[in-house]
Amino acid sequence: MRDVAVVGIGMIDFGELWEKSLRTMWAEAALAALTDAGVDSVDMVTIGCMSPGLFAGQEHLASLLADELGMAGVPAARVESACASGGLALRMAFAEVAGGLSDTVLVTGVEKMTDVDGADATFALGTAADQEWEGFHGITFPGLYAMLAQVHMQRHGTTSEQLAAVAVKNHANGLLNPHAQYHLKVSVEDVLASTMVADPLHLLDCSPVTDGAAALVITTVEQARELGSERPMVKITGSGLATDTMALANRNDLSQLDGVRLAAERAYAMAGRKPEELHVVEVHDCFTIAEIMTTEAIGLFDPGFGASAVDKGLTSLHGKIPVNPSGGLKSKGHPVGATGVAQVAEIATQLWGEAGQRQVEGATIGLAQNMGGSGGSSTVHILEVAS
Ligand code: COA
Repeated sequence: MRDVAVVGIGMIDFGELWEKSLRTMWAEAALAALTDAGVDSVDMVTIGCMSPGLFAGQEHLASLLADELGMAGVPAARVESACASGGLALRMAFAEVAGGLSDTVLVTGVEKMTDVDGADATFALGTAADQEWEGFHGITFPGLYAMLAQVHMQRHGTTSEQLAAVAVKNHANGLLNPHAQYHLKVSVEDVLASTMVADPLHLLDCSPVTDGAAALVITTVEQARELGSERPMVKITGSGLATDTMALANRNDLSQLDGVRLAAERAYAMAGRKPEELHVVEVHDCFTIAEIMTTEAIGLFDPGFGASAVDKGLTSLHGKIPVNPSGGLKSKGHPVGATGVAQVAEIATQLWGEAGQRQVEGATIGLAQNMGGSGGSSTVHILEVAS
């Protein structure tokens, strides 16, 4: 395999962007990444997008978006793995470059979610659950994660206050991120007083519905050197992809996310790293319980200790292992197809030392974990400053 480097990122401000269409958001992020990288052509474009048909009435994105960029003719592919579509777009691009099929790839993620009403958005998101075993019976994603939370609480004594502490931390981080959807300081009391969506998850335990796009340019280390950037060289040293049963009913243990654990083990094995070597982490906090369960699944904490780690401040911006310095999905927003790409953009920004007020001092090794549905698919990428 060839070594692969991240040489450019592009992010638009996430939010409810009524004035921007799917293609304009995407082109803005893609052009920003190409400009940031200093390249004007690529060998391949990957697009992570979960449900453009249901959210925006548009399919066949590979052709549409390559053309939008004036690149008709370039190889392009849209990939879908629910909320892990962005992570999968990177995984496919990484394989292209590492395997020698392409030298330089534009990796993108996009989702336009707010042009439909709340019921239609909930339906579109719900198609990522098992329709026969879950959707048919009326369960939605807040409900599925509420079940995971209930089991975690029963098994490990996790409390609503500890769930709320995740939202408090991530909203505090999001205040420092100009791209975040919500610049909102919240307290544990605010979270507990917000509307109950699915017991024990309140409105402020949930990620929002978001429009957004993000992009990366990745290339070989040799090409990266030729670009002559003054930034430290950031390589993707580990890439893990895994699945789990889609229906929660088929899982052995609802207090753990086995797909995330498998993806992390594969990424650590490829990178030759251990969880304790990480300096900064972005995880998929679509609900507060998800951050607690994913930090356990990627091995930062033993099963059952993810919640107390938040309480002790271990995952805060200046804690032992900062988790979601970007504000996470909770505060930055969750445009589902874009999320996995935006997470990696944050890790690259941190490793370049360009994260401003939310910079994790001295970070040289980072990890991004992205998952689809209630953990039915997961990607994990490890990035490092090359020595
Ligand atoms: N975090 C913080 N604030 C939020 C929010 C969130 N997750 N969701 C909505 N808000 C705010 C809105 O900005 C609005 O504020 P305003 O009154 O000051 O304008 C207010 O709360 C009500 O917003 P509204 O859009 O009417 O909320 P809603 O009840 O329709 O939707 C949720 C709230 C939590 C149900 C919705 O955000 C949701 O479904 N989230 C989960 C998305 C999801 O499942 N993603 C996939 C994960 S696998």
